[in-house]
Amino acid sequence: MKPQRPVQRESFQIDADIRRAQTLPSWVYTDPEVYERSRDAVFAPSWQLVTDLESVSLPGSARPLTILEGLLDEPVVVTRDERDTLRCLSNVCTHRGNLVCTQAGKCAQLRCNYHGRRFALDGAFRSMPEFEETEDFPSPADNLRPIPCEALGAWLFASIDPAAQLAELAAPVLDRVGFLDMRQMRHEPTRSRDYLVKCNWALYVENYLEGFHVPFVHDSLAQALDYGSYSTELFPGAVLQLGIAKGAEDCFQIPDDHPDSGRRVAAYYWWLWPNTMLNFYPWGCSVNIVRPLGPALTKVSFLTYVADESRLDKGAGAELDKVEREDEAVVEQVQRGVRSRIYSRGRYSPTREQGVHHFHRMLAEALFPVR
Ligand code: FES
Ligand SMILES: [Fe+2]
Repeated sequence: MKPQRPVQRESFQIDADIRRAQTLPSWVYTDPEVYERSRDAVFAPSWQLVTDLESVSLPGSARPLTILEGLLDEPVVVTRDERDTLRCLSNVCTHRGNLVCTQAGKCAQLRCNYHGRRFALDGAFRSMPEFEETEDFPSPADNLRPIPCEALGAWLFASIDPAAQLAELAAPVLDRVGFLDMRQMRHEPTRSRDYLVKCNWALYVENYLEGFHVPFVHDSLAQALDYGSYSTELFPGAVLQLGIAKGAEDCFQIPDDHPDSGRRVAAYYWWLWPNTMLNFYPWGCSVNIVRPLGPALTKVSFLTYVADESRLDKGAGAELDKVEREDEAVVEQVQRGVRSRIYSRGRYSPTREQGVHHFHRMLAEALFPVR
């Protein structure tokens, strides 16, 4: 392994002009200090998909969840009160830190099972035994802290310390795929699974952000997509890749007044900064959540949401497991490559790697902001 170098901001400059720019220095993917820095600089202020709305639909209920398991590990509880208001709250008891809600289900209030502190479903402190003599009690600090949360399509996102509103990130997504009835999409646990990938999370993301490798790495996907029409669009905090169907392969029925009307779109591949992918196919959506577990270990959760079962296993949205394994093999090789003492940085294809360049610029800015 390369000797660890101190993190240097200068080394992270990525030229705004893709024709001149160099890629990230290889030590970004291997240096434990960069990995640690990403926890607070990249992930804590980001929006994370915590659950689908369907599983928190019952009024008078609560569900314990974790924001970005393995990296942030922030315990939260999503509640829906009798008035149908959905909230995300810290799930850490304001007494001595026990987890308040440990089981999903119907409930009128939350009760900590350590010493009996009670909270309303909006997080307000309700009662606590043996605290009559405690001074200045209760105070607002005894309520469960609300965590910002917002819905996008069929999913609920939360952020511990959001840098921006989710609606800003989500606006271009809804502009483009808002014509789909996302609330009809149902989670299919049997078609969902996790993959452990021996690579840095950023290598997994940047591989996702280009279709450049499709003809080389994915033979069957290359049969479904028209490589010449594959396109990438950049947004603040998001990237859209548009897969156009080859020949008679399955594609969306797009409304007449839509910007993509007349195009045979097989897939809308949306990436949301920093680690969420919403891949829309005519059958529904494959959600990918990239969970960093270490500088060279990443868990990728594939969550399948089906709207039209009859179109499963067709077109670009077929054989996702095979495509994932192909991606996994190549990014694990890249992880070995970026550990090399000889390789340092590369260059970008201005026509095929705009998404990667955009991501690298965002990552460099988040890790080493220019003040
Ligand atoms: S930690 Fe919750 S009541 Fe004591
Ligand atoms: Fe791929």
